[in-house]
Amino acid sequence: MTEKKILSETLRKDQHLIWHPFTPLVGAEMPLSIVKAEGIYLYTEDGRKILDGIASWWVNLHGHSHPHIANAIFEQAQKLEHVIFAGFTHEPAVKLAERLLAILPANQSKVFFSDDGSTACEVAIKMALQYWYNLGETQKTEIIALQGAYHGDTFGGMSVAERNLFNRPFVEKLFDVHFLPFPACYRVACCAGKRNNPSCISAKATIQTMHKLAETGKIAAFIYEPLIQGAAGMRMYSSEILDELLSIAQKYEILCIADEVMTGFGRTGKLFASEYCSQKPDIMCLSKGITGGTMPLGVTTCTEKIISAFRSAEKTKTFYHGHSYTANPLACAAANANLDLLLQQETLQKIFQITQMHANFEAHIRFQKAVAEARSLGTILAIELKSEQATSYFNDMSKEIYRYFLQRNLLLRPLGNVLYVMPPYCIESSELEWIYQEIEQFLQQKI
Ligand SMILES: Cc1ncc(COP(=O)(O)O)c(C=O)c1O
Repeated sequence: MTEKKILSETLRKDQHLIWHPFTPLVGAEMPLSIVKAEGIYLYTEDGRKILDGIASWWVNLHGHSHPHIANAIFEQAQKLEHVIFAGFTHEPAVKLAERLLAILPANQSKVFFSDDGSTACEVAIKMALQYWYNLGETQKTEIIALQGAYHGDTFGGMSVAERNLFNRPFVEKLFDVHFLPFPACYRVACCAGKRNNPSCISAKATIQTMHKLAETGKIAAFIYEPLIQGAAGMRMYSSEILDELLSIAQKYEILCIADEVMTGFGRTGKLFASEYCSQKPDIMCLSKGITGGTMPLGVTTCTEKIISAFRSAEKTKTFYHGHSYTANPLACAAANANLDLLLQQETLQKIFQITQMHANFEAHIRFQKAVAEARSLGTILAIELKSEQATSYFNDMSKEIYRYFLQRNLLLRPLGNVLYVMPPYCIESSELEWIYQEIEQFLQQKI
């Protein structure tokens, strides 16, 4: 049998056997069968070479199949592949905890491992709620989130997320959350394009609502995606406004949970988006880029203040949460190797270069006719296209945009009518220029 025949069978069997995420079972296009990935390219079974412009759902940092991470996993697999993490520990987990705490905001002091971004958020929510329970503060049980939020697909994550088509079938089962109006101050209509103007109308509404809710004394925690909401369409808001929200939270003893699942590990131009703020979170959620995009791993970190409410031999005060693969040594080894690469001067320089190039391209296309708004932060560039339908994940333009670029061997998976570029950091400037050219051509033909 030739290689091609075997791989075609892969696709045929896939259609019978596999249920893909976020994909309707009827009417969706055939998936592409990938046989190899190297650097920023994906190779299909039928010989195509596709540039991965979205870092495979925002996880890949240094390119696919990076030899340094691959080797670390290989070597770890021959020593210790996994061990129960209750009552046992291992060097890759300890090393990773030590290295993470060294680069996270200084107030973070303990690391809790889980499996992915959703579980990192579940852990954070449970930690925050049990903190108040352990202290006997029984009135503090409510949670604040931002409109448009996305924190994963488990029930806690869905509960603290915007109510929309993603979670409509389950809405009766989700717990109630207070949603703050999104401080859409990056919008020209809101504050004349001065993205950092905290007195804009939208930010005022957000801050007033925060005050009102905080004053009730019932709020246990505020969960937020710092500076940029990914799934909502790469929506950005300013660090000044976030800082103000965090200050109010601190004043009223509301725990702050920074969901850095997408923004962590350099995505926004700093190692963590929380670094843009002077107020620091009590709890942080990490995943995606943590292993450079090779192995699933979730991490929730917290401050000594949180830990102090659990530091007790009383049975009722233990945090009863854990997953079979908690702190999987292979994932921890991958994460340690990822940090080796991420913290190299060369990588930090690449992040800076992408940031500059994105900002220049954003300025270049901002006023093009087909563009409703362009925005960028660090290595993330988003272009909201004009559309007769509302801006949303469900805008029908997404299929057309996705197909257009894929035909040109460029993977850009728009969020509705929001096209975005979030490449692995190892992308060459010539490759980024090529992406921009393709986008510009697309914008020209939309006029
Ligand atoms: C901010 C944020 N939180 C949580 C998640 C959920 O992560 P995962 O898909 O790894 O469960 C995502 C995923 O996109 C995310 O963007």
